[in-house]
Amino acid sequence: MVPARLLPVLAALSLAAGCSRAPAPKADAHSESEYDLVGAMASLQRWTDKLGRAGAAENWPLADFYLHEMEEAAEELAEAGVVYHDQPVSQLTGVMLKPAVESLEEAVKAQDAALFRTRHTVLVQTCNACHTATGYGFIRITPPDLSINPWNQNFSPADTR
Ligand code: HEC
Repeated sequence: MVPARLLPVLAALSLAAGCSRAPAPKADAHSESEYDLVGAMASLQRWTDKLGRAGAAENWPLADFYLHEMEEAAEELAEAGVVYHDQPVSQLTGVMLKPAVESLEEAVKAQDAALFRTRHTVLVQTCNACHTATGYGFIRITPPDLSINPWNQNFSPADTR
């Protein structure tokens, strides 16, 4: 049996454990503490590099695959309402990154390697423009160095008729 004098203590503990009175975690689901911005950026970095390699190899199905991943990520970030250290990251993603990613779609659909190169260069410049705009100009993205392949992945077309 629990001694009667402990009952109020237990009641208080169970209340706290049940969280019914505990302050709710920040109501804004998209606060900087909850949106994994740096994780999203790391994915964007990987896809930007792999997309560049796929396009350079004229592996259009693979380029299309990365482009879709990037479009989804850009869309999600643009809609997440992220303001990071007072920087309107989601808003900037909508006006800067989304158009740059979407502009690559035309090149991939047309399987136009020259257009792809130009648009991919603009994409990389856009990444860096936003880093500068948000106070992260020291994060400098580069086009893929095609003389090396750091990935355990073959970027050339699988269809070798
Ligand atoms: C809307 C502005 C914006 C755009 C567009 C943007 N970034 Fe970022 N990026 C940031 C901010 C802000 C940070 C710092 C985030 C943090 O500190 O959590 C960052 C951080 C990073 C980092 C550091 C994280 C790491 O893993 O090293 C990388 C890499 C990165 N971005 C890559 C990219 C790439 C690649 C693109 C383009 C496809 C891109 N970013 C586009 C704003 C942007």
